[in-house]
Amino acid sequence: MNILIERVGRVAIAQLNRPEALNALNSEVMQELISRLQLLDSDPEVGCIIVTGSEKAFAAGADIKEMKDKSFLQMFNEDFFSGWDAFCALRTPKIAAVSGYAFGGGCELAMMCDMIFAADSASFGQPEIKLGVIPGMGGTQRLTKLIGKSKAMDMILTGRKMSAEEAERSGLVARVFPAKDLLRETISVAEVIASYGKPSAMAARETVEQALELSLREGVLFERRVFHALFASEDQKEGMSAFIEKREPAFKHR
Ligand code: CAA
Repeated sequence: MNILIERVGRVAIAQLNRPEALNALNSEVMQELISRLQLLDSDPEVGCIIVTGSEKAFAAGADIKEMKDKSFLQMFNEDFFSGWDAFCALRTPKIAAVSGYAFGGGCELAMMCDMIFAADSASFGQPEIKLGVIPGMGGTQRLTKLIGKSKAMDMILTGRKMSAEEAERSGLVARVFPAKDLLRETISVAEVIASYGKPSAMAARETVEQALELSLREGVLFERRVFHALFASEDQKEGMSAFIEKREPAFKHR
């Protein structure tokens, strides 16, 4: 089993479990991760998903041994890495809890999540240039949108590593914790997210995602229409009633 799943209440934790290759992401790992997460995604009892690795490695990249001998036509015909689109299509909020190496595809997988929490020991990088290639799982695009052109160019053209502290300062990482506290702290944040109505959480992340895709005018219109749509949900009535009645809301989550 390349992926271990654990449930803590409404939080699901998916742990990459390929220690012999520092969680390198081969096709088998990708397919197993996505198929396990798709089941959790459609479960209304799962309100937040944490994707994590080991203390030493979140993931050391796409599997270099799997790719090394492939021809252009094989890569093109397989549309190599396009399978990751299904990960990005998951609608449940996802937090990457990164400890150790998040290199190449590992950094790119973390960026496909909705936010990244890092151990103070975490190390991020896009070292593909050292292998004679470039990032291929979205790194040139997502890293640039997350930390800006100059810093993304620095990372991608030199292949250098970025510490957790620099990653937080740059906006790649949302929060940094001591390594021993990372999972516990991430679970408590995930529990907060999972306590809200799942439809509003899904709508919120989907709308924030649109900020990376749309112009300001289109994005604000998208947001307004989603905001209007949420008035069809029971959670909106419950959330607003609870505020006025000075009590905790009891969200239905579905
Ligand atoms: N692919 C395949 N195998 C990998 C791997 C990867 N990305 N990263 C590590 N491994 C394997 C090693 O080959 C080694 O296996 P063997 O015992 O069979 O030799 C095992 O994992 C342990 O690795 P190391 O002995 O190298 O461990 P280390 O602690 O000395 O070094 C490391 C750790 C610095 C992360 C080093 O393993 C490393 O540099 N890995 C490659 C990082 C990299 O280049 N990532 C980008 C991959 S390309 C990519 O991701 C493309 C894309 O855009 C998606």
